[in-house]
Amino acid sequence: MKEKWTPAGWRFKPAKHIPTDYADGEHLARVEQQLRSYPPLVFAGEARNLKARLAEVAAGKAFLLQGGDCAESFKEFHPDNIRDTFRTLMAMSVVLTFAGSKPVVKVGRIAGQFGKPRSEQVETQNGVTLPSYRGDNINGMEFTPESRAPDPERLLKAYSQSAATLNLIRAFANGGYADLHNVHRWMVGFVADSPQGKRYQEIADRISEAIDFMEACGITPQSVPQVRQVDVYTSHEALLLGYEEAMTRVDSTSGDHYDTSAHFVWIGDRTRQPDGAHVEFARGIKNPLGIKCGPTLEPEELLKLIDILNPTDEAGRITLIARFGSDKVQAGLPRLVRAVQKSGRTVIWSCDPMHGNTLKTGSGFKTRPFDRILSEVSSFMDIVTAEGAYPGGVHVEMTGQQVTECLGGASAVTEEDLSSRYHTHCDPRLNGTQALDLAFLIAEKLRSARVNGRKAQAG
Ligand code: PEP
Ligand code: CO
Repeated sequence: MKEKWTPAGWRFKPAKHIPTDYADGEHLARVEQQLRSYPPLVFAGEARNLKARLAEVAAGKAFLLQGGDCAESFKEFHPDNIRDTFRTLMAMSVVLTFAGSKPVVKVGRIAGQFGKPRSEQVETQNGVTLPSYRGDNINGMEFTPESRAPDPERLLKAYSQSAATLNLIRAFANGGYADLHNVHRWMVGFVADSPQGKRYQEIADRISEAIDFMEACGITPQSVPQVRQVDVYTSHEALLLGYEEAMTRVDSTSGDHYDTSAHFVWIGDRTRQPDGAHVEFARGIKNPLGIKCGPTLEPEELLKLIDILNPTDEAGRITLIARFGSDKVQAGLPRLVRAVQKSGRTVIWSCDPMHGNTLKTGSGFKTRPFDRILSEVSSFMDIVTAEGAYPGGVHVEMTGQQVTECLGGASAVTEEDLSSRYHTHCDPRLNGTQALDLAFLIAEKLRSARVNGRKAQAG
């Protein structure tokens, strides 16, 4: 029998990657107390809806698209950035919906994705050593002692930024901006501008035809609200547990606890110890949860985590986000999928092709080659399918901006280009073009799987 759960119970467990060097602990406690009285950012009912949609993904009837910044920042907080990320996610989702002939569940890494686990606790520059930058909700990126000292007030600023971001996303999603015709126009614009456009033209033309056909049948934004509106959910890594605890509320309808900082939260690859604080916190909230699965995760440990976090095998509760790297996925993933299949547990398999494919260039930029990202997604889909499970989603670090952070893609970002628009506050992101490129390439794969499936059935 597991011990009784409380929102603060994690405080008695070993916690990795949560700062302990706040100069004034009482200041932090006051800020957390203040957050407890603030409005929830999302409602329990919305998190339940997402879980129901994810249950469809787990059953192979829908696809999960999760994406956004590695780390949101105070500096990049601007409506144009939010708009461009939103547009890119929507355009990717139309391409994937068409290719897979399945609804796409859209989840942003947005409106709360600030804190970062860092491999190095300190950073040295020119003989000076300071604490590492840990995300704008903890400390500042500027390399000075003042900026690198953790400041509790940053939590309040992160809360406000999350609220304003979510407000704009809700307006985009429900106010007509995400009308299928708009999204289609963005997608067509992308194909026209992309050097790989010809390759994608056929899919794009077929989407255009499908929309014309729907219109001819009377399915228009005026007649059918689904053409005018979309559901977009929010997510982030539940890293800074003091903040997550403060945002956790009892839902009056069910009496259950929900973390109202986002619809979906995940446990990072560095904080998924079964006896650790992050798992302890996550087990008691009813939100859908992600678990990052990297090369050091053993099958027994994964099964243990699933037992702790989803003892009743509720569909839609657990998304396993595989992040091995294109060179390690073949060695590491099959045994995890096999173990979960054998255990009969219900999960979603999603692929994060970003975090295992990071490298440093000679000039010191952290980057990710697009071809490795693509290769990992492709191997992931083949492996999961070969094990008799369903490759149900992708999880990407992306922005709608034309940054130069990942190498390659149709518009061929080179090593020399990296310095021109390298804006990320943590890991390198796909830019708008690379993100849509990836969606089209996944689409080609989904369609050929569908066509082969149909041929196999007919044969
Ligand atoms: C992340 O998603 O930003 C992250 C840190 O990932 P992981 O835990 O998989 O390394
Ligand atoms: Co990252």
